[in-house]
Amino acid sequence: MTAVVLLGPPGAGKGTVAETLAQKGYEHVSTGDLLREQIRLGTELGLAAKERMAQGRFVPDEIVVGMVRGLFDPPRPGHRFLFDGFPRTLAQAEAFDRMLQSLEARLGGVVLLECPDEVIVDRLSGRRVCKTCGAVYHLEFNPPAVAGVCDRDGGELLQRADDAPETVRKRLQIYRERTAPLIGYYREKGLLRPVDASRPIDEVRRAVLQGLETAP
Ligand code: AP5
Repeated sequence: MTAVVLLGPPGAGKGTVAETLAQKGYEHVSTGDLLREQIRLGTELGLAAKERMAQGRFVPDEIVVGMVRGLFDPPRPGHRFLFDGFPRTLAQAEAFDRMLQSLEARLGGVVLLECPDEVIVDRLSGRRVCKTCGAVYHLEFNPPAVAGVCDRDGGELLQRADDAPETVRKRLQIYRERTAPLIGYYREKGLLRPVDASRPIDEVRRAVLQGLETAP
């Protein structure tokens, strides 16, 4: 089993790029999507996550790590996973290393999507997400064919609760405090592949694929 991680601030384009890699045989695992699904189902885990997520705060490490561990039970040898939004604290990264080791699995690379704050604020204020399938659009940079309607399944397009400008600023601050230390952590391991994510979507996709080709 191999894992690849997409690291980067909120709105850098992790979900958008992950769609491309899913077409290359990677199973896309977004811990944000998994948590939103638990909220939708009204589970205990969803209830524990709901308020924190709406406020832009992280869900506790033990909840997220437990959720990820569940994906590997039973283990799936030969499978390729693409993690988007996990790990996002040092404690999660260390737990992930232990998990992979116990499964005799390998972390094949960590692609860092680098993007300035002003670009991120523009991207998140214009983001719209399909209520039913979760497909991601942007009013200007990646619009649907018909305004407000998902190209894939005709679902209604909505704005995420945590994309309000004040919540975005808080998410960026938490990213700097709690997730940015992972950049040094993975650079020291020789796994980091930085990509300039402020470029147009197709260019970023190509750069990410190139980055993974040179991953160990
Ligand atoms: P999560 O859903 O993972 O959100 P995030 O990491 O904040 O990232 P986003 O989904 O906001 O952005 P993205 O980088 O995927 O950008 P996208 O492709 O959509 O997590 C949400 C919450 O869940 C967290 O705040 C936390 O509470 C909780 N959580 C999740 N994982 C956790 C964990 N491990 N530990 C603890 N808590 C956790 O693109 C953004 C927009 O820009 C779109 O509109 C897109 O169309 C557009 N766009 C993308 N790329 C480009 C481009 N190159 N040019 C122009 N527009 C672009």
